[in-house]
Parts: sequence; structure tokens; C-alpha cells
Amino acid sequence: MLGSFRVRTPDWILFGFDTIRQVGAEARRLGAGRVMLLTDPGVAKAGLLDPVYESLKGEGLEYDIFDTVEPEPSIQNLLEASKMAKEGKFDVFVAVGGGSSMDTTKVVSAMMTNEGDVQDFFGVDNVPRRGLPTIMVTTTSGTGSEVTRMAVFTDKAVNLKRVVSAQNILADVAIVDPNMTLSKPQAVTAATGIDAFIHAVEAYVAVSASPLTDTIALEATKLVAENLGPAFANGNDMTARYNMALGSFMAGISLNNAGVGAVHALAYPIGAEYHLSHGLALIVIFAETMRSISISCLPKFRKLAEAMGVDVQGLTPWEAADEAVAGMSELARMVGLPTTLSEVGGDQAKIAEWAKAAHGEQRLLGNTPRTLSVEDVADIFKKSF
Ligand SMILES: [Fe+2]
Repeated sequence: MLGSFRVRTPDWILFGFDTIRQVGAEARRLGAGRVMLLTDPGVAKAGLLDPVYESLKGEGLEYDIFDTVEPEPSIQNLLEASKMAKEGKFDVFVAVGGGSSMDTTKVVSAMMTNEGDVQDFFGVDNVPRRGLPTIMVTTTSGTGSEVTRMAVFTDKAVNLKRVVSAQNILADVAIVDPNMTLSKPQAVTAATGIDAFIHAVEAYVAVSASPLTDTIALEATKLVAENLGPAFANGNDMTARYNMALGSFMAGISLNNAGVGAVHALAYPIGAEYHLSHGLALIVIFAETMRSISISCLPKFRKLAEAMGVDVQGLTPWEAADEAVAGMSELARMVGLPTTLSEVGGDQAKIAEWAKAAHGEQRLLGNTPRTLSVEDVADIFKKSF
């Protein structure tokens, strides 16, 4: 493989216990002044803002807070945050939360320096200028949003997910402090952890994968497979939380550089239809999507099985791929997640509609190693019941 590739990351990534204490110094380095914090009510209630306030105050910085970011945020919710941002004369924007708060913050910052309607930003590289400086503090080990150039919103008018994918919304600083994930409830640990796992696996088999992302994605697969169960079983298992934070962050780097594919494309209509969290929408179609594309890259599926600790020695390439797919489902079931559309009340009559919507996500399907027709996509939905 002699191909060329690009590497995209935030300018600074601070990883490890107590890195949250540096948020104030980083905000000052980026030009604060006045800081806008964006978060959700759950984060505020869990006391996760206390170390952030302390660090900002320690640097003598002023701040104000928008604490009503919605889960799977709507465009309306984004506009409310943007209105406060424009009125507040802020210099630096700090997200404290999961994908929803981080995605909102990225686009709010872009709206400070770019004219036009938010609708103009959707799609690929439709943000002409970088926004004001941003710091992403993640409180989940899942989305990887702290290191990605993506932001996902719900368009309630048409019940669809809309994505901003732009180099200009990549954060200035990402802070990944495993302490910030300790209070995460079990169900959130499971759903966000499986999202991280799927980022690693999808990036590993992606058309745009590179030697760099292959190495990182395979290690992320191993870290999540080994640590999701222990983190789920005991939320205060520091080693498991550390390794999940590391696995999720590495999966995010893989995703930001190799991209994801069909699993994310098929999950979008399911998530919108049944108002499922992102992780849940992914996991119910994950195994059958992976089974379908496995024939395009059997050696990679053997490596995935090995990374998950599955013994595939002596098996044929297709037997090893089957074992990899079975392992992926078992990992999800172990942490109480559904693995079929039937379990989330799916309606088979909707298959044709979903297949059309998912097939429309060509940004993602074009990055999938098997070419999938609308009929192929419908077949995966059918087998996922
Ligand atoms: Fe995802």
C-alpha cells in the first residue's frame, strides 16, 4: 500500500486524570477574557462543572453558562445557544458534555465568524472560516466528538439527522479526563461505549483507512472490547474508565481521519424514526451490516476477531469473519444492549423507506468497502429483525 493520506487532529489534546484542571489556562492561552460554557442539565447536576469553574476562576476568567443542550440536539436548540453566544461578547467557547454539547459548541463558535443561515453549513466543508476558539471537555467515552470535525443535529421539520462536516469546526483543544466519566450511568456507559467500538471497527475497514488509522483503530477495538464490560460492571473501576476514555479517543482519531461508513448511514433513519440514542440506533443494525461487508475484506475481519480476543487460529477466512461478527454482538449483549430491530419495536413495513434514506448517505456508503445497492441495504434491514 503506497497511498497518500492526511492527518487531522485538534491543535492540542490533553489526556489523563486531572487534565480538567488545565481548562482555565488553556482558555487564557486562546484569548479569554470571557468564556461561554455549553453543557446539558445532567452534567450540571452530576457536579462535573465544579472543577471547570474552579480552573476558570483560578485564571481570573469570567464565564456564563448555557446548560440546556438537548440530547440529539435540534436545530432550534442550536439557534438558542447561538443567540446567547452572539449577545454575550465571549472570546472562548468551552463544551462540557457528550457529543450533543460538543457538536453544538463547534457550530455555535463557527456562527460567530461566518455569515449566513445555519442551513448553509450542513454538508462537507461548507464553513468558510474558522470560528472563535473552542475547548472540548468530554464526559462520555463514546462519540469521539472532542477530536472530530463532525457535528450532528436533528431537523425536526423533516425528522432527519443533518451533519456539518468541516475542517474549520475542529476544536483548538480537546481535554479527555477519565475522572469526568466516572458518574456516567450504566446505560450511557453501554450505549456510548458501543458507539466508540463501532467507530474503531468502521474506520478500520473504511475505504479511506491509512496505515496510521489502521494501527490506532485496531488498538481502540482491543481497548473497548477488554474494558467495556468492567466499566459497565463497576463505574468506579479507574483502570476500565481510563482505558475506555483512551479507546474512545483513539477511535475518534480514527474516525476523523478514515471516516465511518454504512453502519452510521443505516442508523440515521432508525434513530430519527424511533428517537433512539445514537449508540442504540447503531447497535441494532451493526452485526448484519458488518456481516454483509465482511466478504470485501476478510483478512481485516480476522484481525478484528483477534483484537477482540477471539481465537480464530486454524479457521478459514470466512469462518474467522463469522466469529468476528458474533463477537461484536456478544459484546453488546453483555452490557444489556439490544442487537435487533425487533427489540426496539421496529416496523418491517418501513424497510423500503429506510433503505432509500440510508442509501442517500453517499458520503458514508462511498467510504464502505462493499458497494451496497438500495436492495442490499433493504436486505440488511430485513436481516436485522
Ligand atoms: Fe458514531
